[in-house]
Amino acid sequence: MCGIVGYIGEKEAAPILLEGLKKLEYRGYDSAGIATLAKNTVHVKKDKGKINDIGFEASLRALPGNIGIAHTRWATHGEVTKENAHPHSDCSGNIIVVHNGIIENYQAIKKTLNLHTITSDTDSELIAHLIEHEMDSGKDFIEASKSALKKLEGNYAVLILNRKENQIVASRDGSPLVIGVGKDEYFPASDIPAFLNHTKKVIYLSDGDFVIINKNLEFFNLEEDKKVEREIDNIEWDAEEAEKGDFDHYMLKEITEQTETIQKAIDQNEDEINYIAKQIKEGYGIFLVACGTAYHACLNAEYLFSKIAKKHINVVSGSEFPHFKHFLKENSLVIAISQSGETADVLEAVKAAKSMKSKVLSIINVKGSSLDRLSDITFYTKAGPEICVLSTKAYTAQVALLLLIAYAIAENLEEGKNNLKNLYNLTYNLTALSTREHIRKLAEKLKEKNHMFTIGRGIMYPTALEAALKLKEVSYIHTEGFAGGNLKHGPVALIEKGTPCIVFVSEDTEKEILSNAAEIRSRGGLIIGIAPKDNDLFDYFIRVPEASFANSITHIIPVQILAYQLALLRGCDPDKPRNLAKSVTVK
Ligand code: G6P
Repeated sequence: MCGIVGYIGEKEAAPILLEGLKKLEYRGYDSAGIATLAKNTVHVKKDKGKINDIGFEASLRALPGNIGIAHTRWATHGEVTKENAHPHSDCSGNIIVVHNGIIENYQAIKKTLNLHTITSDTDSELIAHLIEHEMDSGKDFIEASKSALKKLEGNYAVLILNRKENQIVASRDGSPLVIGVGKDEYFPASDIPAFLNHTKKVIYLSDGDFVIINKNLEFFNLEEDKKVEREIDNIEWDAEEAEKGDFDHYMLKEITEQTETIQKAIDQNEDEINYIAKQIKEGYGIFLVACGTAYHACLNAEYLFSKIAKKHINVVSGSEFPHFKHFLKENSLVIAISQSGETADVLEAVKAAKSMKSKVLSIINVKGSSLDRLSDITFYTKAGPEICVLSTKAYTAQVALLLLIAYAIAENLEEGKNNLKNLYNLTYNLTALSTREHIRKLAEKLKEKNHMFTIGRGIMYPTALEAALKLKEVSYIHTEGFAGGNLKHGPVALIEKGTPCIVFVSEDTEKEILSNAAEIRSRGGLIIGIAPKDNDLFDYFIRVPEASFANSITHIIPVQILAYQLALLRGCDPDKPRNLAKSVTVK
């Protein structure tokens, strides 16, 4: 995790870096820092905590100079302290580093640096000292940096500021790094939103790339050990898409954007969807791999493919994939689903699949991400930038696409599109102010609770799991999701008077799930029905339309809103829940 951004050009660097850091905070927000260079002097300001703490923000903004690097941290090595905040420097103060990733051989490296004064507990600081160490043996800065980076095991994206030469070196191996290209200015960064306000031109770096950034760019690849060329690409997102606009939080903005993202799914290229369907039909063993919310999208696909396409698929959580790798054959198909395309557990799974020579197809939201580069075939969800740490619109975009693919396998893509077309008005109503107000009243009733449950059957079961994840990750109320039929096999022991249970009702599962709701109610549970029609069993009712196989999209939206309202009422930051990061680039 962690976000890094740099600037080199003619403008004041600090305000640009600060703005970039704010856009990258979704990657971590334990601490932040900026280093700038003005008249051969390095200015550093860093601290623990979020950057928009007033005093901290002002001091960062005031740093002088037209060149600088910056970092927002999600702690891995070393506690959340000012000392461990980036940027880090070598002993001389000439080499300043920001790093995203994990250096696995840091202990061995540290032993070679016993003459150096190391001031933090991080693995990242060692990079600066290692370069200094290499320079001590006579190499110039560039050769020393190359040599040091080649010695790192693990993964990294680094920006190295060289005080003496007014230059930045950017390099990546396993962690994301792109370079925004403006007029006489460059913006190396972990992700596009960091510079989208300044330029819509980007260079996607490959693993091993080592770029010297000064008045121009010079590319080298450490793995190939030679100079390379990299092309400039155009960014399709608009700058406003990465802004909050009139919304208080990205979370609410992204929830309401789901009407448009579903429309974008409908507009996806039919030939591409049919091509993917063909790959799935021809594959011998289909594995869907993902983490977190994207994993729940895969669980949806398991039901959609079974019911619509009569096709069996295997769904495996990214970190568990190595245990199933031996089933893969050359004609197996691994489908990796990820918003960011950077989740380390998913990347590991994909590398395992590649080692077995299986085909890899990815469904991702972020173009140019590591998964994009590793895959044989990529399909973009086109949900636009998702900034809130919690995934909402990217999730429903994934589910919408998987639904279309299921219909395409059944050679009935048109019906799938019609199913989604009906959703347009329905989702608009679900995110309207009146619905939000109705859900806010429910949040008032639930805000003091310590435990909650969610249940669903059939395709509503993955929805129950996703609902529980949304609620717990942003409100910190312990919430567990179960298959309706499974509650009686243990979890029902936890139901007490007033324990809330959200019951997802769809036409095809109505009878059974209402029986499960009755079992909970008779033990004192507070029943919240998310259903097409009201029922005496419900203590609180949220109406959702019956949308057949698209129920997973309609039924999750009220819970996304509930999670948001609960976060506000409980004083939690909806966009940046504690301990989480949007893009988890460590195993
Ligand atoms: C993290 C985030 C989750 C996300 C998961 C997978 O755990 O906190 O919200 O669902 O990563 O992310 P991906 O980018 O691969 O979809």
